[in-house]
Amino acid sequence: MDSTEQRIKIAIQKSGRLTDHSLDLLERCGLKFTQSKDQLFCYGENMPIDLLLVRDDDIPGLVSDDVCDLGIAGLNVINEKRLGLLSSGGCAQFRQVFALDFGHCRLAIAAPYDVAYENVASLQGSRIATSYVQTLRHYLEKNNVQADIEYFSGAVEIAPKLGKADFICDLVSTGNTLTANQLVEVETVLQSEAVVIQTSAPLAEHKQQLVNRILQRLDGVLQVRESKYIMLHAPRSALAEIADLLPGSEYPTVIPLDSCDDKVAVHAVCRENVFWETLENLKEAGASSLLVLPVEKMLA
Ligand code: PRP
Ligand code: ZN
Repeated sequence: MDSTEQRIKIAIQKSGRLTDHSLDLLERCGLKFTQSKDQLFCYGENMPIDLLLVRDDDIPGLVSDDVCDLGIAGLNVINEKRLGLLSSGGCAQFRQVFALDFGHCRLAIAAPYDVAYENVASLQGSRIATSYVQTLRHYLEKNNVQADIEYFSGAVEIAPKLGKADFICDLVSTGNTLTANQLVEVETVLQSEAVVIQTSAPLAEHKQQLVNRILQRLDGVLQVRESKYIMLHAPRSALAEIADLLPGSEYPTVIPLDSCDDKVAVHAVCRENVFWETLENLKEAGASSLLVLPVEKMLA
């Protein structure tokens, strides 16, 4: 076996809204990389895991074709690729592992300011410019609307000004691009965020183990983001009430205190943020010496 075949390849966006977050996430998983001169390849220094930096639209295809084992991409491009493969009689050879809670945006239909838009029926008989042909076609069919889809590979937002379309269907994040082009959002076609996808192709055992390891670390990184470690003292008699008040915690650890019999120390991992109100409620229930700490790493 060629030594490159022993390594895991992860496809991430080369430059765009997902790039920094994707790199940051992988670094938090303990991966270290050296970037090639052309900046399209990152060699994994401390684990046999390399990165391919590519156009986001190419990521689902690279994972489906088993060129890469994992990919981080927006649901928008993943959905478009999946529908594209289905419409040509194929099937996406990847599965979605988990959502990453960054890169939130939406695929939306937008209209020029001077268009009187009422509802989705206003799109009937119109021309809509988009790079998301499959997703838009699917949306229009679902809503029983007939419209012409005009494919644009980029700069979709200028299509109405050029007289090439009546509406556009494009990604919206801050909405600045729409505003700059005197367009207003009228329909949401798809809510999107970054997700991890994994090839459906069977992997050699050592590769599968590596993939499992990296997915477990990713899961850990995602979990600690909101997690807090909380410590407090409580009267034994209030334990049940206090356990109920701890947000998103399963089994608190109860530790006897040397000095007194009727009080114990309670430690718990709360899988969501701990707000002042919660602390006040805990105190009200009899807790004292409350301490909330950030969680750095977690392995389930
Ligand atoms: C999208 C979209 C708009 C812009 C909208 O492009 O095509 O141009 O983002 O963002 P805003 O609402 O924050 O102004 P993107 O940067 O994702 O590039 P791509 O479609 O070429 O990948
Ligand atoms: Zn793109």
